[in-house]
Amino acid sequence: MAIELVVNRVKNPSDLDWVAETCFKHFKEPNQVSTKEEYREMVQPWLDDQTLGTIIAYDEEGPVGLALYRSNELQENEIYKDAVGRFPDLKYEESSKSLEAIIVEENHRRQGIGAAMVAKMVEECKASGAPQIYAICWKGPVGDSYPLLTKLGFRCLATMEKVYCDGSTGSIVMKDLTK
Ligand SMILES: CC(C)(COP(=O)(O)OP(=O)(O)OC[C@H]1O[C@@H](n2cnc3c(N)ncnc32)[C@H](O)[C@@H]1OP(=O)(O)O)[C@@H](O)C(=O)NCCC(=O)NCCS
Repeated sequence: MAIELVVNRVKNPSDLDWVAETCFKHFKEPNQVSTKEEYREMVQPWLDDQTLGTIIAYDEEGPVGLALYRSNELQENEIYKDAVGRFPDLKYEESSKSLEAIIVEENHRRQGIGAAMVAKMVEECKASGAPQIYAICWKGPVGDSYPLLTKLGFRCLATMEKVYCDGSTGSIVMKDLTK
C-alpha cells in the first residue's frame, strides 16, 4: 500500500471534514469538546497559518492519518504551564514546536504510518530551525503515542495524573533536534 504524506494542505476540501470528524471521534472525551464543528474551527486556521503544521497521510482511497503541530507557546498551554510549575527541571525554548494531535485510522495502524508522519514532522521542524519538539501523550506510558514517540527518540520528562478532562494521565515527551 503506497502512502503519500501531504504537508500543510488537503487534497480535497472535503478532507477537512475527515480531519474534524477524526479528531472529534478520538479526542472529544479527553478534550471535552461537544461538537465536530469546534474541531473544524480549530483545524482550518491550522492550514492557513505558517506557524502551524499539518501532515496528512493518504492512501489510494483518501486520508488515513493526520498529525497537527505548532509553534510552541508553552505558557499558553495549561498542561505545560502546570508542569513547568510542578517540575522545576522542565525547561523549554520559546521557538520549540509541539505535536498537538496524531491519529491513524484503526484499520491502518501498526504499518508505519504514524512513524512516517513523525519523521516528516521532525524534518519540517528541523528545517525551520526549531530546537525541540514537545508532545503530551494521552494516557501516558499505556497510551498509543508514548511507545511510538519514545521509540522515535522522544524522552519522557514528566508524567502527570488526571491532566485530561476524562481523568487520564498525560506524559510530556521531548525530542532534542540539535543532536
Ligand atoms: C498513536 C498512533 C497514531 C500510532 O500510529 P501507527 O501508524 O499505528 O504507528 P506505527 O505503525 O508507525 O508504529 C511504529 C512503532 O511505534 C510503536 N507503537 C505504535 N503504536 C503502538 C501501540 N499502540 N502500542 C505499542 N507500541 C506501539 C511500535 O514500536 C511500532 O512498531 P511495530 O509496529 O513494528 O512494533 C495510533 O495508535 C493512533 O491513532 N492511536 C489513537 C489516537 C491516539 O491515541 N493518538 C495519540 C494521542 S496523544
